[in-house]
Amino acid sequence: MEVVQVLHMNRGVGVTSYAMNSTVQSKIISVTKPAMMSAIEKTLRSISWPVTMGIADLGCSSGPNTLLVISEILNAVHATCRRFEQSSPEFKVYLNDLFSNDFNNIFSSLPAFYRKQKQDKGSEFGPCFILGVPGSFYGRLFPSNSLHFVHSSSSLHWLSQVPVEVEGTSLNKGKIYISKSSPRCVLEAYSSQFQKDFSIFLKSRSQEMVPGARMVLSLMGRKDMDPTTPESCYQWELLAHALMSMVAQGLIEEEKVDSFDAPYYAPCMKELKLEIEKEGSFVMDCSEAYEIDWDDGAEMASDDSSGERVARTIRAVVESMLESHFGCHIMDELFRRYAKLVGDHLSNNRTKYVNLVISLLKN
Ligand SMILES: C[S@@+](CC[C@H](N)C(=O)[O-])C[C@H]1O[C@@H](n2cnc3c(N)ncnc32)[C@H](O)[C@@H]1O
Repeated sequence: MEVVQVLHMNRGVGVTSYAMNSTVQSKIISVTKPAMMSAIEKTLRSISWPVTMGIADLGCSSGPNTLLVISEILNAVHATCRRFEQSSPEFKVYLNDLFSNDFNNIFSSLPAFYRKQKQDKGSEFGPCFILGVPGSFYGRLFPSNSLHFVHSSSSLHWLSQVPVEVEGTSLNKGKIYISKSSPRCVLEAYSSQFQKDFSIFLKSRSQEMVPGARMVLSLMGRKDMDPTTPESCYQWELLAHALMSMVAQGLIEEEKVDSFDAPYYAPCMKELKLEIEKEGSFVMDCSEAYEIDWDDGAEMASDDSSGERVARTIRAVVESMLESHFGCHIMDELFRRYAKLVGDHLSNNRTKYVNLVISLLKN
C-alpha cells in the first residue's frame, strides 16, 4: 500500500466525513491546549519576539479542527504579546497534510476565518498568511530555519508504510494490527518502523526549525510497555473481527484480510524519549499521557448508539485505506458489523484511548 497516495480522511461534510466525525480529535486538541500555550510563551520569550513567525500544523486534515488549532495558536501568541507589551509578529502559517487531503475544503473556510481574526483581535494583530503544504512529514517540507512553532495532533501514529517484513504476508493471520496472537517478528517490525519514521521526522524538523523553537506533538499511544495491550490495539481487533465475520460468510476472501495490515503504531512514552535522545536535536520539555473515551466529545443528543458513533469516527479515518484494499462495495456492511461489535464491547467496558502529548525544544 502506498500510504502517501492512499491515506486521507473522508472528504467533504457528509455523514461519514471526517469533518462531521472528528469530535474525539477535537477533545484531544483541547487537552493539549495548556502544553501548547506554555510552549508558545516560552518560544516567544526565548527567541526574542520574532518579526515574522513561522508556524506549521502537520497532518492538519480538513474540517473544523484544522482552523480551530490555528486560531488557538494565534490566540496564544496574541495573549502573550499583550501580556509582555510586545507588538504582534506577522504570521506565516503552513498547513500540511498528504497530497490527497481535502485542501479545497480548508481554503473555502479561509475568508470567514480571516474576518473573525480581524474582528476579534483588531488592527494591532499582525497580518496572517496561510499556505497549504502537501507532502509527507516524513521528509523535508519547509525551508531551513523557517519555523518557530510546530504542532501536530492525532497524526504521528500513522507510519510512512506498513513494515516491509509484514506487508502482503500472512504473518499476522486474521488480524490487521498488532494483536495478542501476533508473532514476535510482527511486533518488532512495527516498533522498528516507528523508530525509523520518528527519527526521520525529528531530523527533518530540526533542519526547518530555528534554535529555541518548540514543537508540541500529540498522538495515540499507550501507557503499558506491552504493544499488545488492549488500550492501543482493541479498535483494530474489533475491526478484524468484523472483517473475519464477513470472511465466514464468503463476502471477503480470507487471503485479503491476511494480507492487510494497518500503517499505524501507538508507541509508549519510553519509545518516544529514546528516539528523541538518539536523534539529539531536541530536548523534551514536558510530557503527559491522557485517557480519552472512545466516544468522547460526541453529540449525546443524537439518536445513534455509542457503537454507531464510534464506528463512524473510525470509518472517517480508515475508510480510504480499507476501500483501496477490499473495494468500496463492502464498506457499509463492514461498518454496520463493526458498530454492533463496538456497541457490545462498550456496553460491558469503559474503553479509552491513550493520547501522548510531548513538548520539544530545538537545541
Ligand atoms: C486523524 S487526522 C488528524 C487531523 C487533525 N490534526 C485533527 O486533529 O483533527 C490525521 C491526519 O494526518 C495525516 N497524515 C498521516 N500521515 C501523514 C504524513 N506522513 N504526512 C502528512 N500528513 C499525514 C492524515 O492524512 C490525516 O489527515
